[in-house]
Amino acid sequence: MTKPILDVMNMNKDFQVKSKTALFRKPTSVRVLNDISFELIEGETLSIVGESGCGKTTLGRCIVRGMDASSGNVIYHTEDGQKIEFLKLKGKKSKQYRKDIQMIFQDPYSSLSPRMSVFDIISEPLIANFNLKKSKIEEKVTEIAEKTGLNVSYLRRYPHAFSGGQRQRIAIARALITQPRLIVCDEAVSALDVSIQAQIINLLKDLQEQYQITYIFISHDLSIVQNISDRVAVMHLGRIVELASTDSLFGQPKHPYTEALMSAVPQPDPEMKKDRIILEGEVPNPANPPSGCHFHPRCAYRTDKCVQQVPELREVGYNHFTACHYAEELHLRGVQNDAANTN
Ligand SMILES: Nc1ncnc2c1ncn2[C@@H]1O[C@H](COP(=O)(O)OP(=O)(O)O)[C@@H](O)[C@H]1O
Ligand SMILES: [Mg+2]
Repeated sequence: MTKPILDVMNMNKDFQVKSKTALFRKPTSVRVLNDISFELIEGETLSIVGESGCGKTTLGRCIVRGMDASSGNVIYHTEDGQKIEFLKLKGKKSKQYRKDIQMIFQDPYSSLSPRMSVFDIISEPLIANFNLKKSKIEEKVTEIAEKTGLNVSYLRRYPHAFSGGQRQRIAIARALITQPRLIVCDEAVSALDVSIQAQIINLLKDLQEQYQITYIFISHDLSIVQNISDRVAVMHLGRIVELASTDSLFGQPKHPYTEALMSAVPQPDPEMKKDRIILEGEVPNPANPPSGCHFHPRCAYRTDKCVQQVPELREVGYNHFTACHYAEELHLRGVQNDAANTN
């Protein structure tokens, strides 16, 4: 059964940026998200990958309304089947539905208030959204702390007393306390040691199974993404350039940028390392994007058409979308879903 939970439609985000050199010049507008559209199915994990600065965090923030999108729409499908314009919610309805979509950030050091006890950090969203008795709040916090592997007797302590992995558990507990249906995890395990990463990922997976949570999992680490996602969206300079099921994307990438990103994934076979594609040149500046396909200056397969024409995101295989003029002709290299590689 596939039940939609969220449709992101034609989302754009422009930032006004002041020139550092020209003191009196008007701020210029920089498009950081460019016509982003995708649909999410309840209970799935959609990963968003791409180099630093491509707009992943901005996208996450615009979806959860931590920041206003410049244009576009987000349709939220409620549990009882209503379709709601999420970005336009106001007042009571806003309170009712915004708690359903939460975000967890990368840095568990700066995202938790140092002046609040862990109990207060976790219970804050609950108190803001529900009118509950003290005993009920205690009960809920204890329950969620146990679920997320936190020691209940430490809840009166402050975040500085906890390790990075423990802090990320606190952040997850806080995100979960309002029983969200969708969580945007923005590099949620990137700052953690590898062994702790695995624990937190397992926790996220267990919670997903228990509560049917949908994840948007933002990450630059493709080996984690390959492991946990149902589908993957590849972002380049504010646009989605490829979107497919994890197997299809890793097995048969259709965009040269995806191929290049994947060639950097560590391979169990040392022979394969020789074929690593080095992305030459700088990540292009969103304030001054290249003409045509934004990836063309770094693409080994580019032609004049790529310099001139922006490729549309189009379906080139079953549920496999890509924005490359030559998707059908190129035979790009993917990575195997090797058992040794996925633990
Ligand atoms: N508040 C802001 N004002 C101006 N530009 C910003 C702001 N936040 C992010 N950006 C720019 O938007 C682009 C995307 O940033 P971000 O979403 O953080 O990327 P990612 O999470 O993929 O690394 C970058 O070029 C960044 O410099
Ligand atoms: Mg980011």
